[in-house]
Amino acid sequence: MIYAICQSRICLITTEKGCGKMSEVRTKIIALKKFMDAQIVGQGDLVNKLIITLLADGNALVEGAPGLAKTKAIKTLASVINAQYNRIQFTPDLLPSDITGSEIYVPEKSDFEFRRGPVFANLVLADEINRAPAKVQSALLEAMAERQVSVGGKTYELPKLFMVMATQNPIEHEGTYNLPEAQLDRFLMYIKIDQPNAESEKKILRLVRREIAENTVNIPIVLDIDDVMNARSEALRVHMSDAVEEYLVQLIMATRHLQKYDPKMAGYIMYGASPRATLALDRCAKIHAWMQERDYVTPEDIRAVVFDILRHRIILSFEAQAEGVTTDDVVAQILKLVPLP
Ligand SMILES: Nc1ncnc2c1ncn2[C@@H]1O[C@H](COP(=O)(O)OP(=O)(O)O)[C@@H](O)[C@H]1O
Ligand SMILES: [Mg+2]
Repeated sequence: MIYAICQSRICLITTEKGCGKMSEVRTKIIALKKFMDAQIVGQGDLVNKLIITLLADGNALVEGAPGLAKTKAIKTLASVINAQYNRIQFTPDLLPSDITGSEIYVPEKSDFEFRRGPVFANLVLADEINRAPAKVQSALLEAMAERQVSVGGKTYELPKLFMVMATQNPIEHEGTYNLPEAQLDRFLMYIKIDQPNAESEKKILRLVRREIAENTVNIPIVLDIDDVMNARSEALRVHMSDAVEEYLVQLIMATRHLQKYDPKMAGYIMYGASPRATLALDRCAKIHAWMQERDYVTPEDIRAVVFDILRHRIILSFEAQAEGVTTDDVVAQILKLVPLP
């Protein structure tokens, strides 16, 4: 069966890689994941999804209570990629130009010159994004969507490898500004993380004690931008059968026409997911499969990433909000109702 799948893939007809033998770049990505898992205890899911976002050419929003290693996870990922990394700490007094950059008068030239802001980097950590007002968030979200910055009538391109990893603490915190719902779509994945269990907690304690005592972290693997690009194109060649594709489409359709399966739940949805969600699900499921060392997608790959892709792309009705129903509840129900291929 795998042989048949491989034959349908152009890449595998011309190279030996992929059929049984693991490519060099996949070995590197798996080593990267292992390294990150050792640094960030019990958050394997977060690590996996950050890497998927990187390989899918997307941006990630990570939400969780303070102290859950959101910042650490992102910094660790940046530390193993040989690329320019900037961190922007969002605060209430930040200005849009603190992100994008601005024109500055240069007396020697008697002219204005554009000073690039911290968004001009390959990897950008937008830390605690909901602590800055909407205008500032929009400056970043626009740059993410357009992959360029316009200032003073000129546009400046962002680099080819460009990924924003934003963090936010759960909404009920005081003095924070919700990200605009309509713009959340610009994040490929909206990842939520929870508190570790007792076993992980003990491991964290020991790990951090050791880190403090040793004062250095040995980084065993470094990826270049080319590695990331190669991994991207390789993962996109993972095969998806017609049956699995149909399942993917039916999941998205269920967000739009849930009355077919569950009229009560359907009343909780104001808007279902858009085709952008379909494309995101396709891409991320393929990368998930590729990281599992498989060259074909299973329904499990789709189910593994579907929450992070749909959570911010289904808009709930007021009724749902009043009853405390979340988009995660809706997605969980959809997974139960849509038959597996
Ligand atoms: N799962 C974990 N694995 C390893 N270290 C952790 C973990 N959770 C918390 N820590 C430790 O707690 C610190 C706080 O993490 P940080 O990344 O600043 O949290 P956040 O950004 O989520 O508020 C980290 O620097 C790390 O030392
Ligand atoms: Mg933090």
